[in-house]
Amino acid sequence: MEILRTVAELRQWSREERNDGGNTIGLVPTMGALHAGHASLIRAAHASVGFVAVSIFVNPTQFGPNEDYAVYPRTFEADCALAKAEGANVIFAPTVEELYPAGAATFIEVEGLSNRLDGASRPGHFRGVSTVVAKLLIASEADRAFFGQKDAAQVAVLRRMVADLRVATKIVVCPIVREPDGLALSSRNLYLSPAERTQALTLSRVIRQAEATVAAGERRVHVLMEAARKTFAAEPAIRVDYIELVNWATLEPVETAAPGSLFAVAAWVGATRLIDNTILG
Ligand code: PAJ
Repeated sequence: MEILRTVAELRQWSREERNDGGNTIGLVPTMGALHAGHASLIRAAHASVGFVAVSIFVNPTQFGPNEDYAVYPRTFEADCALAKAEGANVIFAPTVEELYPAGAATFIEVEGLSNRLDGASRPGHFRGVSTVVAKLLIASEADRAFFGQKDAAQVAVLRRMVADLRVATKIVVCPIVREPDGLALSSRNLYLSPAERTQALTLSRVIRQAEATVAAGERRVHVLMEAARKTFAAEPAIRVDYIELVNWATLEPVETAAPGSLFAVAAWVGATRLIDNTILG
């Protein structure tokens, strides 16, 4: 499995593979520290396109000044082995200078959506995400790009961006992969102490509770919110960032829980910020 370092190499690879019998190209953007959630995206890509590129790039522009950019886990060798085992054909691992050339002054901002949910607590985060994903889509000329529902607000922002820019790439969204006890897989789970790992289960508990409450026929937003707040309050070590019930396309709050609404939570477990969500049935 080849490791490509420059945009020119990725573009050339994509064009060669495509011309070689009219194949389709898939892209799985990641920041590395790959786990079973990322693996599921690579598998889904492998099953649906002819050739798969996995990008591994810890994108500085999506981290705030006091966030974990410097200490974000970097496990490149293991990432390559996992990507290869799941069917990746190439890894794209550029330097920061390759994606942000000296003097870089162009950013993509999806207005409105970028300030909601995680964008409200992490100013500038989605501007960084949409900018880097636009660069990756332009470089790879992928037919399909694969993202996890785990980052549901990110999906909403990127769907809006791709629609607005008339990008040809189709966005494919894959389900959340969880540990057997319910915790959503995340590269940031590596930061959790054993005690925090147990406290972190509160997020998936709140998600399952909301699913069960809606399945039982409850549609009132304030009832769902109150139940979630109560469950979080039972674990005082956790600090809630947000509990939101929104339209998944616009990220605007909904009046009643309708099928397809996004119920999403974010919370601090010690120094680690975790997120989880469900699309209500
Ligand atoms: P990263 O956090 O590495 O995640 C890469 C992809 O894996 C995202 O689409 C994310 O939603 C998905 N993913 C993470 N955990 C998952 C889980 N438990 N189940 C299913 N999918 C999961 O998201 C990013 O990187 C960056 O913002 C990026 C899009 C690469 C831009 O820099």
